[in-house]
Amino acid sequence: MEKFVVHGPCTLKGEVTISGAKNAAVAILPATLLVKGKCHLENVPDISDIRAYYEILQSLGSKITFINKNEVIIDNTNVNSAIASYELTSKFRASYYLLGALLGRFDKVQISLPGGCNLGARPIDQHIKAFEKLGATVEVKSGNVYATRKEKLKGAPIFLDVVSVGATMNAILAATLAEGTTVIENVAKEPHIVDLANFLNSMGAKIKGAGTDSIRITGVSSLSQKSSYSIIPDQIETGTFMVAAAVTKGDVLIKNCIPKHMEPVTAKLIEAGATVEEFESSIRVSMNRKPSAFSLKTMPYPGFPTDMQPQMSILLCVCDGTGMIVENIWESRFQYTDELAKMGADISAHGTTAIIKGVDKLYAAPVKSHDLRAGAAMIIAGLVAEGDTEVYDISHILRGYEDICLKFSKLGANIEYVNDDTNEVNSCD
Ligand code: UD1
Repeated sequence: MEKFVVHGPCTLKGEVTISGAKNAAVAILPATLLVKGKCHLENVPDISDIRAYYEILQSLGSKITFINKNEVIIDNTNVNSAIASYELTSKFRASYYLLGALLGRFDKVQISLPGGCNLGARPIDQHIKAFEKLGATVEVKSGNVYATRKEKLKGAPIFLDVVSVGATMNAILAATLAEGTTVIENVAKEPHIVDLANFLNSMGAKIKGAGTDSIRITGVSSLSQKSSYSIIPDQIETGTFMVAAAVTKGDVLIKNCIPKHMEPVTAKLIEAGATVEEFESSIRVSMNRKPSAFSLKTMPYPGFPTDMQPQMSILLCVCDGTGMIVENIWESRFQYTDELAKMGADISAHGTTAIIKGVDKLYAAPVKSHDLRAGAAMIIAGLVAEGDTEVYDISHILRGYEDICLKFSKLGANIEYVNDDTNEVNSCD
C-alpha cells in the first residue's frame, strides 16, 4: 500500500514553484480535439489525471509528443473516433469535457458517466441542457452518456440554473464551432474558465466575457494554432502552500502564481494573522503566532474556493478560539473531519457546517485521503502534528499535485513516500 509519512512538526521555509493548473489543463487537453492539427502546450502539470487524459486522447487517435514532462505537442489530425473507452473515461470526472469538445467535431459521441472524487451527488443535467439547446440529443444509459447531432450544432441562448464550472466549460467547448451565436448566462467565473477561453481564442475562436456573468460565443468554422500556449498556474496548489506556510509558522515564497486569483484565500490568511506579500507572479506567506479563529463560506469564484476549505480547516484546528466553515458547493465534503479528529482536533461537522475549536497540538495518527484536497489537508496536518503521520489513499493526492512530496521536502518538511508492497521508501529530496 502506498502512503506518505510526515514526521512532524516542522516549520516550512524557502521557495516553491507552482505547477500548471489541473482544472484548466483537464479542459484544454480535450479542447485540442477541436483542431484538426497540432497544438503545442506548455506548463501542463505532470499529475495522474493529466496522464489519464493523454491515454484517452491516444485511444481516440491523437499523437502526443513530449518535449519534456510539462510540455507536449498533441496532433489530432488523425482522430477519427468519438467513442471513448468506458474503462478510461470512468476513472475521473473531467473526462466529461470530451463531450463538448467531440460534439464540436463528430456526430456521435460516447463516454462513461463521470467518476472522480466522492464529494456527494455530482449531476450533469446542466451540461446536458447546454448540449440540447445547441441541437444535440443526449441519452444517459447503462453508465454511459451518448450525445448525437444530425447536423452542425447551432448557437443558442443558454441559461444555466446553477453556477457550474463544468457546465460552463462544456458549453463553451460545444459552442465554439457551432453555427451562429451562443450566449451563456449565469456562468461560473473561475480562472480556469478564462484560461480555456483564452486558449480557444488564441486559435481563432470568438469567445467574449469569460470571467463575467455572461459569455458570448460567435461560432467559427475551424480553429488552428499559430504558437504554443502556456497553461495558467494552479490556484489551489498555490493556496495549499500558502496555508502550509502559515500553519507551520513558516516563511515561504511561492513562485509562478497569480496573486489576483488568490484574493479570497489571502484575505482569510490575513484574518488568521498571517503576513501575505504579493509580487507580480509570486506571493510570500509568513506567520509567527497562533492563528486567530475565522469563519468562511465556500462560494463560486471570486468567493472562497471549495477546493481550499479542507486545507484551511487545519489553521482552525490549532487556532485561538472557535471557527466555522460552511460548505455551499459539495454536500459530502466534510468526510475528512473524522480523520482530523483522530489527530486530536476538536471538530464537529453536521450537514454543510463544521465547527472547529482550536487545540494546543495535533498528534500523529494513520489517516485517509478521502479526496484530492482532503489528502493535501492531511499532509498539512502531519506537518503540524507531533510524531509520524501516515497518510493513506494517496492516489487521490497524486491526481492533482505534481511532485508534492519533493516540494514540501525542499521547504524543510521531513516527508517520505512509502510503498509497503514493494518496500520502497523515498525520502523525496
Ligand atoms: C466544482 C467547483 C470547482 C472545484 C470542483 C472540484 C464551484 C462553482 N465549482 O467544480 O471550483 O474545482 O468542484 O471540487 O465552486 N451542478 C448541478 N448540475 C450540473 C452541474 C453541477 O446541479 O449539471 C451543481 C453541483 O452539484 C454542485 C455545483 O453545481 O453543487 C457546482 O458544480 P460544478 O461547478 O459543475 O462542479 P465542478 O465543475 O466539478
